[in-house]
Amino acid sequence: MILSIESSCDDSSIAITKIEDNQLIFHKKISQEKQHSSYGGVVPELASRLHAIDLPNILEETKPYLGNLKAVAVTNQPGLGVTLLEGIAMAKIIAVSKNIPLLAVHHLKGHIYSLFIGKEQILPLLVLLISGGHTQIIRVESLEKMTILATSMDDSVGESFDKTAKMMGLGYPGGPIIEALAKKGNENRFNLPVPLRNSKLIAFSLSGLKNAVRLTIESLGGAKKMTEQDRRDLSASFQKAVKLHLIQKSKKVFVDEKIKDFAIVGGASANFYIREAYEKLCEEFGKTLHTAPLEFCSDNAAMIGRYAIEAYKKELFINPYEIDIVVNRKRQQGVEL
Ligand code: KG4
Ligand code: ZN
Repeated sequence: MILSIESSCDDSSIAITKIEDNQLIFHKKISQEKQHSSYGGVVPELASRLHAIDLPNILEETKPYLGNLKAVAVTNQPGLGVTLLEGIAMAKIIAVSKNIPLLAVHHLKGHIYSLFIGKEQILPLLVLLISGGHTQIIRVESLEKMTILATSMDDSVGESFDKTAKMMGLGYPGGPIIEALAKKGNENRFNLPVPLRNSKLIAFSLSGLKNAVRLTIESLGGAKKMTEQDRRDLSASFQKAVKLHLIQKSKKVFVDEKIKDFAIVGGASANFYIREAYEKLCEEFGKTLHTAPLEFCSDNAAMIGRYAIEAYKKELFINPYEIDIVVNRKRQQGVEL
């Protein structure tokens, strides 16, 4: 079995996964959403303190399995430095004290492997990753070869949902709040710009749309003057513009990429309105759409464990005295993830 730890942002999570059949034996996650909600985003210092309390509490529950561990895995990039260090400290101690190998897992690769929890992996695969920190289309050929085909120039999808909710005076995370409001809204009421609509660039950008949302809120007299229906209509109009942007750019990638299997992963892949649009797009291009179960879309240690199984089989071990974090490394189109 492999014990995996995730602490890259505001979720403390530990999982135990069986190497033999990819089955998840134990999984627990403690989210800090409530504690960060009043700030409209994650406060790193607070997040790190909460990990220092929650991770040892979860570890206590894994005691029955600790005798059977073959390796320990931990997210070491990308993420918040102070929170990544909490998970790494724990993983190092387990690896050294039990004398078992340590695996360092790239969080985004973990999101991709959320698709394969309890299953065999499907490769090659084309992936749209939409999370709180990233918007990317990635060609996954193997564990070692994942190439970024399109990436975000500014705000990510999840971030744009969070900021839209914050501007309207709503809580955090904004994604589920905006999606729920949008269900009762008129998506054609506000004519928001679809980003990079007339550009040939295969890239994502959402800061212009965020600005248009801000101006719309101002034109309504500010967040406090907005009615419930205004919030619903603005949420729906915003979500529609995001969807059209994602679909337009994905289409351009689909024209060149013949890989049959396509997946959406990451926190924002829980959005059913976006999923539906991709179902249609995949039908049009003859691709098969894959998504992870809802509970594994947002950050969790189960996906880190599933990736770790493949890394373990390839013996991609790291010296516990040399493991380090990699924070916010900018990644460009055409480079390896
Ligand atoms: O993958 P994730 O848990 O964390 C990162 O790795 O960043 O993604 C969190 C992001 C948040 O920005 C959240 O607002 C967004 O995913 N999110 C959604 C939905 N559920 C979560 N965005 C849009 N629609 C949703 N239903
Ligand atoms: Zn994530």
